[in-house]
Amino acid sequence: MKFNFDQSPDRRGTESVKWDLYPGTLPLWVADMDFKVAPAIQQALQRRLEHGVFGYELVPDSYFEATGRWFARRHGWEGISKENLIPTTGVIAAYSAALKATTQPGDKVLVMTPCYNAFFPAIEHNKCEQLDCPLSYNEKQYIIDWDLLEQKAAQAKVLLLCNPHNPVGRVWTREELLLTAGICQRNNVFVISDEIHCELTYPGHDYTPWATLPEEFVQNSVSCISPTKAFNIAGIQIANLFAANPQVYKKMLEALHKNQCADINVFGATALKAAYNEGEEWLDQLRDYLFHNARTVACFLEDELPEVNVLPLEGTYLMWIDCRKALKPNEPLEGFSERFAKHLQETVQLTLSPGSIYGKAGEGFMRVNIACPRSRLLDGMQRFIVGFESYKNNA
Ligand SMILES: Cc1ncc(COP(=O)(O)O)c(C=O)c1O
Repeated sequence: MKFNFDQSPDRRGTESVKWDLYPGTLPLWVADMDFKVAPAIQQALQRRLEHGVFGYELVPDSYFEATGRWFARRHGWEGISKENLIPTTGVIAAYSAALKATTQPGDKVLVMTPCYNAFFPAIEHNKCEQLDCPLSYNEKQYIIDWDLLEQKAAQAKVLLLCNPHNPVGRVWTREELLLTAGICQRNNVFVISDEIHCELTYPGHDYTPWATLPEEFVQNSVSCISPTKAFNIAGIQIANLFAANPQVYKKMLEALHKNQCADINVFGATALKAAYNEGEEWLDQLRDYLFHNARTVACFLEDELPEVNVLPLEGTYLMWIDCRKALKPNEPLEGFSERFAKHLQETVQLTLSPGSIYGKAGEGFMRVNIACPRSRLLDGMQRFIVGFESYKNNA
């Protein structure tokens, strides 16, 4: 391997959310990676820094071209251009503005729970009502409950989709997206597809951009994309809102301006262009490394702690673990994830994300961020086993 993912800089004391919010614990929680960025990104930022002036900037054509080329080449998504892509400060900003543009107070927004926790405040801040369509869990895998989706879609204005899905690690297939699109179309539901995790998929699971579905479905949708997760530049805060339909594009631009998040920071375009133009080899090696991290966790826990169910990771670097077998006799499920997370922090100094923050359907589960050197991840898993046993046996 040309890039060494076994090494990572010490992030403690750098004001890192992941490392410095719960000091003294091993943080396998918030979704950023411990790896240094691709050298090409660091070099491009260094060159930009050298200039020494950081006033307001235009977004150059080369920004749109780099994004368009990347998605066409890697994902078969043709046609991204300056006319349909709006740069913004983040994916949360993008879907929040999209919600503002497509809903009225009181409208219902459909989410497939457990789902990314920052969907919930965006729905609330737009004065909409959250309508859960829990994914169906068959102890092995999560799938969409089609009857339930049809039923819920009849009441909803918008579907806020996560493709690939955080936290359950599913990469929706084209067939699943087509069925979803059909249901939304029949019920006149607008689709906002959050595709921030799209680059991080593993063998046998390809990301299908919502925008590559048949035109009739794409017209009534927007997609939120960004290189930040895959290239570990989330703190630079750069993302794009894609709208194929010119009327939708206009509404989105207005909403982004109303929310005052249509201007990007001076390092955003530089980082995005370096990632998409020069980051491909790094990304492919990262994907390989993360795939092996995921296998390591799955095999290790299967051998050492068969009581937990580790969901197969199709995409993202966030693993989803069913921990309900740690429940003590007569212990209620409600509140378990939080109690277990606290116990892990206090007894084995490990920070994981409690599943319940992703909605009621996530209760009993924990989310583990595997984007760190393998030895650190194994340390985390050893702590997890000790914490699991002590929680369970400490009646
Ligand atoms: C599904 C999803 N959407 C959006 C975000 C955050 O995006 P941003 O930092 O660009 O606002 C995350 C971060 O973890 C995420 O998992």
